[in-house]
Amino acid sequence: MGQVELQSIHKSFGPTAVLDDINLTIADKEFVVVVGPSGCGKSTLLRVVAGLEEASSGALLFDGRAVNALSPGERNVAMVFQNYALYPHLSVATNIGFGLRRAAMSRREKRAAIERIARLLEIEPLLKRRPNALSGGQRQRVAMGRAIIRNPAVFLFDEPLSNLDARLRMQMRSEIRGLHSKLPTTTIYVTHDQIEAMTMADRVVVMNAGRIEQIGTPSQIYDTPRTTFVARFMGMPSMNMIAARYDGDALVLPDTRVPVPADWPERLAPWVGRELLLGLRPEHLSLRTSPGGVPATVDLTEPTGSETLVYLHHGDTRLAARTPPDTRLRRGDQVHLDLRLDRATLFDPDTTLALPTLPADPITKGETA
Ligand SMILES: Nc1ncnc2c1ncn2[C@@H]1O[C@H](COP(=O)(O)OP(=O)(O)O)[C@@H](O)[C@H]1O
Ligand SMILES: [Mg+2]
Repeated sequence: MGQVELQSIHKSFGPTAVLDDINLTIADKEFVVVVGPSGCGKSTLLRVVAGLEEASSGALLFDGRAVNALSPGERNVAMVFQNYALYPHLSVATNIGFGLRRAAMSRREKRAAIERIARLLEIEPLLKRRPNALSGGQRQRVAMGRAIIRNPAVFLFDEPLSNLDARLRMQMRSEIRGLHSKLPTTTIYVTHDQIEAMTMADRVVVMNAGRIEQIGTPSQIYDTPRTTFVARFMGMPSMNMIAARYDGDALVLPDTRVPVPADWPERLAPWVGRELLLGLRPEHLSLRTSPGGVPATVDLTEPTGSETLVYLHHGDTRLAARTPPDTRLRRGDQVHLDLRLDRATLFDPDTTLALPTLPADPITKGETA
């Protein structure tokens, strides 16, 4: 069992509020990724769950039982850090077994547990080696082995892959997910990397400045961001944000008018005559060969092999478009863009919140689906 519930958790260091009203329920065996920019409070949140920091107020419950007063050792959680700090003078086997040093088990039982974990992580041939004879990915696996050998109810990861190079990071992402399916354990995984969040999570929690901005499945977060912060932080390049006035028939941009889909006039009636922020993913802007659409000027193209990212501007608005790999454009070229308005998210520029009626109510609550 490993349901984790944070109820109105606040944390301040002196006068500085670092966690502000965190409400989050994580189901038993769920894999939740907490993502946000550096300094937004992710590590503090994990440390509060682990018992390494005390919440200033609010309740923390494991399986419905308050654990605020329990020491880290009594909480049955295991934490894996970015700096996984293996003991350099001890073998891999001893490093993995370290968490069991005080367990009431015979040497044979400990040995069997270490071998079982080594098989699970596919590091059996390495058990006799010292950490300095391992690659970065192997060390990371040993660190995970040391954490899981105690059979924790909750797994906490704090940016465990940040020290690895890009290829290894990708490999370890799928290894950690693979481990979770072999050994389903409630997991809270913290990262600043939105790709890790999108690829690994059952649910993503987006944090900003000590607050939760949105909780949802990766596709909910990507397709229906609740705030402009989420829209900009998740997705690479960021969601385009185009300031436009809605006149009832069209969106009025500096240099053009874009007719709106048939269902907008009814849904957007209160917005006639007002400024909106039109949010569009780069894949929802496409280049036209004929005039029409939105005129724009090319600033830069970035061929990645599988696609070409085109950066442009329309008036003062900077735009990014995801285009086929054979796109041939140069700085200064004049092009025309089609906007997939049926895929747009509209934001209120004053509150930065998505309008609740388009395309679907994007507000997702903190409860498990
Ligand atoms: N022990 C501490 N004393 C004072 N401020 C702290 C302490 N730990 C963290 N902070 C501050 O809390 C904020 C959030 O930190 P942290 O949780 O480490 O963010 P993240 O992990 O998202 O980068 C930062 O501004 C950091 O400086
Ligand atoms: Mg951190």
